[in-house]
Amino acid sequence: MAGKRIIAVTGATGAQGGGLCRVALEDREGLYKVRALTRNPGSEKAKELERMGAEVVAADLDDAESLKKAFHCAHAAFCVTPYWEHLSPKRELAQARNMADAAKHAHVGHVVWSTLEDTRDFVPLPDDRVPTLMGSYKVPHFDAKGEADRYFAGIGLPVTFLRTSFYWENLIHLGMGPKAGPDGELAIAFPMGDAKLPGIAVGDIGRCAFNIIRNRLEYLGRTIGVAGDHLTGQSMAEALTRALGRKVRYEDVPTDAYRGSGAPGAEDLANMFLFKRLFEREYCAARDLAAARRLHPGMKSFEEWLSENRHRFPFGEVQRKASGE
Ligand SMILES: NC(=O)c1ccc[n+]([C@@H]2O[C@H](COP(=O)([O-])OP(=O)(O)OC[C@H]3O[C@@H](n4cnc5c(N)ncnc54)[C@H](OP(=O)(O)O)[C@@H]3O)[C@@H](O)[C@H]2O)c1
Repeated sequence: MAGKRIIAVTGATGAQGGGLCRVALEDREGLYKVRALTRNPGSEKAKELERMGAEVVAADLDDAESLKKAFHCAHAAFCVTPYWEHLSPKRELAQARNMADAAKHAHVGHVVWSTLEDTRDFVPLPDDRVPTLMGSYKVPHFDAKGEADRYFAGIGLPVTFLRTSFYWENLIHLGMGPKAGPDGELAIAFPMGDAKLPGIAVGDIGRCAFNIIRNRLEYLGRTIGVAGDHLTGQSMAEALTRALGRKVRYEDVPTDAYRGSGAPGAEDLANMFLFKRLFEREYCAARDLAAARRLHPGMKSFEEWLSENRHRFPFGEVQRKASGE
């Protein structure tokens, strides 16, 4: 391990950071050593990372001192916040600042900050096209990340801002996938009208982060948005129909119905879809597909992601064949 450059990875047991850990640990050049940060080094996911060759260290994003230790001697740090664990933009901003301060303290050579737009730069608080939430946000889980961008830059960190996209895995894990209606027909339902939604296979975010770190000088100080496809709900439904061998339609739910569903974070997500719809051109342009593929030539399209993941959906021809139906 001597001489290898350390990449300190927050969220290492999660989707984005986990993807980066796997890519870095499997990299044939072997130039990097992965330091996986977790609150719980004894968890099964942490032990798995250790078995794969990572150094697992205890750290908590709410504890700045633990981060300073965990970032010690790191060549690069990948920083991501667990918004959906607490649904608090204030706490998310505090966690981001803790990581930024720790990276500065530890003289980390390159920080990759997993971020999103501050939507208030597009829709100021008095603009009621998007309702204000929690008194000072439009899309809370976006805005605090965007606000943190200014902090990362303001303290003079060597940083790359990695703007991520909607994970297609949400169709499997977050209950956003096809559901049967009263007529038995499957539908995906988003309040996106006919606007395009940039999406990505979450594992590709980790690969993008790794390639940014490998090409430090090219990406330092830049903002790069990543996506594997920009698709309308209708196109996603058609691709799902082909992949699952069963008709899936797209239902354009009214934003207010989505907002009122009562699910945790429903208002935040309703505003997110509304923002993406109102600013479709800018939001897609910030995730240019050609630029993302220059960064990661193997970036999956939705069709490619579906062909690898269709067996994980609870519906479809693949499953019916498997169950002998
Ligand atoms: N879902 C989407 O479509 C989407 C799209 C773009 C961006 N995002 C953003 O992605 C972020 C979440 O990333 P993810 O999906 O990779 O996360 P994830 O899979 O939900 O995992 C959360 C990670 O955060 C770690 N964690 C939580 N609280 C922590 C704390 N106090 N200190 C240290 N580590 C902590 C967990 O590690 P331990 O439990 O091991 O400590 C775990 O590794 C959110 O901010 C979300 O807004 C999501």
